[in-house]
Formats: sequence, C-alpha cells, structure tokens
Amino acid sequence: MKLWAGRFQKETDQKTNDFNSSISFDSRMAREDIEGSIAHAAMLGACGVIDKDEAGKICIGLEQILRDLESGALQIDPSAEDIHTFIEGELTQRLGDAGKRLHTARSRNDQVALDVRLYLRKQCDALSGQLRDLTQVLCKKAAGYAEAVMPGYTHLQRAQPITFGHHLMAYAEMFLRDLDRLRDARKRMNFCPLGSGALAGTTYPLDRGMTASLLGFDGPTHNSLDGVSDRDFCMELAAAVAITMVHLSRFSEEIILWCSWEFKFIELDDAFSTGSSIMPQKKNPDIAELVRGKAGRVIGGLTALLTMMKGLPLAYNKDMQEDKEAVFDAVDTLSMCLTAFVPMVETMKVLPENMRRAAARGFINATDCADYLVGKGLPFRDAYKVTGSLVAYCIEHGRTLEDLPLETYQAFHPLFGEDVYEAISLERCVNGRKVLGGPAPENVRAESERVLALLNACEEWPAAVPGGELWL
Ligand code: ARG
Repeated sequence: MKLWAGRFQKETDQKTNDFNSSISFDSRMAREDIEGSIAHAAMLGACGVIDKDEAGKICIGLEQILRDLESGALQIDPSAEDIHTFIEGELTQRLGDAGKRLHTARSRNDQVALDVRLYLRKQCDALSGQLRDLTQVLCKKAAGYAEAVMPGYTHLQRAQPITFGHHLMAYAEMFLRDLDRLRDARKRMNFCPLGSGALAGTTYPLDRGMTASLLGFDGPTHNSLDGVSDRDFCMELAAAVAITMVHLSRFSEEIILWCSWEFKFIELDDAFSTGSSIMPQKKNPDIAELVRGKAGRVIGGLTALLTMMKGLPLAYNKDMQEDKEAVFDAVDTLSMCLTAFVPMVETMKVLPENMRRAAARGFINATDCADYLVGKGLPFRDAYKVTGSLVAYCIEHGRTLEDLPLETYQAFHPLFGEDVYEAISLERCVNGRKVLGGPAPENVRAESERVLALLNACEEWPAAVPGGELWL
C-alpha cells in the first residue's frame, strides 16, 4: 500500500513502480535514515508535538529495526518505493499508531535531503582518511629518494634534472589540496535541513536547533525552499572527487610510462600487476590503467549531477532522485581506486640507476654548462651558443656532455677547464636548485617533513553522530 493511497484509486503500475523506486540505490542510507528519524522523534517528544513516551517508543523501535537490518533478521523489501518509506512502514507494522506519528512535521523532501548529507559526511571523512594515507606514503617515499636524480620533463622531453623525491612531492601537494577541498565540502554540507518540510516549513513548534545538534550539524539551514532543493553538497563533493581522480589519473599515466621498458624507472610489485594470457614476458600495470580509466566515469557523474540540476525550478523535483547514483558512484569509485592505489605506490620498486642513466642522456645539464662559462666571464648569449654547438657535436658523435674529453671542450672554447665536469655533474645541478620549491635533496626532505607535520596537525573530524543515549 502506497503512502498516498488515500488520494488514489488505483495501485501504481508494476513497471512504473520499479521505474519510480529508488530503493535499489538508497537502501545504503538505512542507518542514516534511522539516525535522522530518531533525532526527529526525540525532538518532537521534547517539544511536546507528540507524547514523550511515544517518542521514546519510536526511538527504541527504530534502534531495533537498525539492529535487525544489521543482523540480517530484517530484509529490505526491494519493491518498496524508497528506504524512507520502507523504514517508516516497518516501524508502523511493529508499533501501530506510535509509528504513524513519526512523520509528523516532516516530509520525505527534507528527510532525503538530510539522509544524503549524513551519508556523504561520513564518506567525506572516510575518503579524507584514505587520501591522508596516500599523502603520507608519498612523503615517506619522497624522503627516501630525495637524492635520486631523474630527468624532469616538459613536453615529455627531458628538460632539467630533478629528483624522484621532488616528483613525488608534486603529487603530495595535489593530494593535500584535494584533502582541503573535501574538508571544505564537508563544512558547507554540515547544516541540517530537517524542519524544511515539503518546501514551506511547518506550523508545528519545532526545535530545529535541537535536531541539528543531535545529529552533529553546525546548525539548521535557513530557508525551507533551499533546504529541500539544495544539492550543492552533492555537486561540490563530486567535483572534489573528480579533481582527485584527475590527479590519480595523471599519476597513473606516469606510473604506466615508468613501468615500460622505454623508461623502467619503477617496477610494480607482483601483487599489484597482472600478466598476459598469451605473452609470457608481460607484466602489466592494470591497476594504474583502471584508475586512469575510472577517472572518466567520475567526471561523467559530476557532469550528470550538474546537468540534472541546472534547469530545476524550486523546490523539490523528482529529478533530484538521480543525485544519489551519480555521487555515490563517484565516492565509491574514488575509494576503490585509493584502496588499490595506496599499497601499489607503497610497494613499488624504484630503480634510481635507470633514472640516473636517463638523466645523463638528455643533455639536461646543458643550462648548467652554459652557466659554467658565464662564471668564467663569458656573456650568457655566447655561452649559450658554445653549449649549443657542444650538444650538437655530442649528438652527432653519440657522446654526452659528461664523457666528452677536455680537449674537445677546449676546442669549442678555451675557457673550459678540468672543473667543468664538476660543474655539470647532475648531482651538483640538482643540489644547487635549492630555491624554495626546488628539487634539491635538502628541500625535498624539508617538504616531506612539512607535509607530514601538516597531516598530523589536521584536526580530527568531529564524531559523525553522538551516541544513541543522547537521543532519549
Ligand atoms: N526517493 C526520493 C528521492 O530520492 C525521496 C523523496 C521523495 N519525495 C517526493 N516528493 N516524491 O529524491
């Protein structure tokens, strides 16, 4: 029997019922729905809107339903319209009239707006924990490879020498910003819409501050129309998640390149690689490829949400039921990606000798060679030209700047002396780049410590929901 049976003369068509129903994807909010209802009932009792004893019964009944759902004693009915309807129906079956009083001064519109916020708030916290783990892993690895010289690239062409630690810390910076975005999204979602009713609030004398604080919110929302129809928190979280996926995807792309024989800068642990069914020599970076691929679907989820919302008049419209699959999938996908990605990065074998070899072959110390001549008194433009000719000579003769004999150097310019080798040594080039933000090993170690300290100082998230005893 439908909630609206009084107004209708026919049952909903079966297939239409399935089309209309959201139970297949909103039943994951069962706990949050029950927590929200307990707070609502406790507040109704405290304000004298319903009898205090009855409010107590409702709260106990709801807690029992939660226990039964968790133990498996109660199964969710897949033909129910949504999780809200199912739980209220179950409560009424168990308690009779008391159960029927739960929905006083409430609509499914403010109820669903509440449940999604409660659910996503927890997801924000869980994702933050995973991202924090990843950033920590990166900082530790970066400190371990603070001295490992590798080529830095622009246009995927070897450009200037950096260290592997510096490269990893670039990602640590991105994930730090992602953490901040998650925290920001959480801050703005943390207001309680309960009491907005269907769209126009209610005539009952509710204590909206009480429900808000029982549920750990920073306060109630301030406009009933906005309270039920705001989905900024879904879009904002999906955007933060999509940006994080873009970062993971760029990192994945580099990991894939680094695993190739063309680079061989790293080797992934067997536990995080796959083989080929036909080519016995293959070891494939499937996890990184999947993460890169899944970035697409998360971006799709964000696009779906933005597009779904852009034409909606105030207040609630059923279109909004589409919010859940998009944002839940985005959150699930990021979480799954991080679950595989963090240990993959943690266990990857770094091959610094190969990085060093690649760094020696791309003339990435040519700028430093020109600077050497400048140090000997040659104007930079002349020094640049001499070095350019030297590089051309090396390319033609299959040499590197480091292994060119001194006589050859001197044939290009008499100012070259024995000390040129020291000046263009990759270690020296990297060590000299100690400007703030530069790749010098001492910088990398300092940055790694700075970020680790930031992560540690990050205040803990407030407890999601106060203990059940507070409700009664
Ligand atoms: N299942 C609905 C949703 O997810 C709940 C709200 C229903 N409200 C309504 N007026 N039909 O949006």
